[in-house]
Amino acid sequence: MNVPFLDLKAQYAALKDEITAQMQAVMERTAFVSGPFVEEFEREFAAYCGSRYAVAVGSGTAALWSVLLAAGIGPGDEVITSPGTFIATAEAVSFCGATPRFVDIDERTYTIDPEKIEAAVNPRTRAIMPVHLFGQTADMDLIMDIARRHGLRVIEDACQAHGAEYKGRRAGSIGDAGCFSFYPGKNLGAYGDAGAVVTDNAEMAEYIRMFRDHGQLKKYHHRIIGWNTLMDGLQAAVLGVKLKYLDRWNEQRRRHAEQYERLLAQVDGVVTPVEADYARHIYHVYAVRVEHRDGLLAELAAKGVSCGIHYPVPVHLQEAYRDLGHCEGDFPVAERCAASFLSLPMYPELTQEQIAWVAGKIADCLAVAV
Ligand SMILES: Cc1ncc(COP(=O)(O)O)c(C=O)c1O
Repeated sequence: MNVPFLDLKAQYAALKDEITAQMQAVMERTAFVSGPFVEEFEREFAAYCGSRYAVAVGSGTAALWSVLLAAGIGPGDEVITSPGTFIATAEAVSFCGATPRFVDIDERTYTIDPEKIEAAVNPRTRAIMPVHLFGQTADMDLIMDIARRHGLRVIEDACQAHGAEYKGRRAGSIGDAGCFSFYPGKNLGAYGDAGAVVTDNAEMAEYIRMFRDHGQLKKYHHRIIGWNTLMDGLQAAVLGVKLKYLDRWNEQRRRHAEQYERLLAQVDGVVTPVEADYARHIYHVYAVRVEHRDGLLAELAAKGVSCGIHYPVPVHLQEAYRDLGHCEGDFPVAERCAASFLSLPMYPELTQEQIAWVAGKIADCLAVAV
């Protein structure tokens, strides 16, 4: 048996007719960039998240960047975030001219450790940007409380958390704004790059609507210096079809996680993910922790199990961020996690047989290693 890390073909096969019909409708109306399909998706996605506004943009990175700009963050400012994330979180801060200020993650949830945030707050701090890593939200009440006390914005990086919940509220709807990526492999994925910001703040939504379209709301009347990062009609059409299935897919992922947990809990040397009391985890990534990760990854690949690593190098140790002057040991939890994370195959269409087979291969490999 071969188990791929991700199987986008299986999902496409199930939705082919519906998606083809919607794509055809976009082409017949030549609604290629922005337009009615994008507006409809914005309404549906805002309602899904429980936010007043959704503003569609070209990618998750653009969503993060435009929210920071809308919040007035710029040179000289600092944004507190996690080093255990995809680099886009920090890049968005840097592209505003501001500086990411990293705070280590919690060893159980892999999200920013609220207990350590306050020590990083200083007169330059303008915002906290928690990352809902792997599909589990950070502990938002504690973060919102710190932000309130210090007058900071909270911008949720919900790029991996479509439909995840914190105490019954949807990811992205808790802070000042939430940012989503619809990169194809996400729980809600387009057929190309796409992203969105959700917010209850009308001013912020309007700024981003201008920013994404060269600073204009009225054609050729440019109120601010903007950028070009609009969502395509074809992507909105795909996302509109898929949004209807998101809850079902997330539920399937949760059942797969339960099965992995049942099978792997008995295997020595495997640390399985923990769902926090406050959370409804949607397992965008199912990451276990193991020693000698790289060897296990290669052995599993040889046995037909494709795994991934999210992410092998924490952001503070990336070459791109060497100017910040960090060194090994600065954020030990994020570093330990980066060295031991192994992401197992996870997608709604996985079968129970495949999961049992993957768990069996992991057990076999670790038994030999002992
Ligand atoms: C946590 C996180 N933030 C930001 C992004 C950037 O999103 P995009 O690739 O759509 O620009 C991603 C995408 O993988 C992500 O996982």
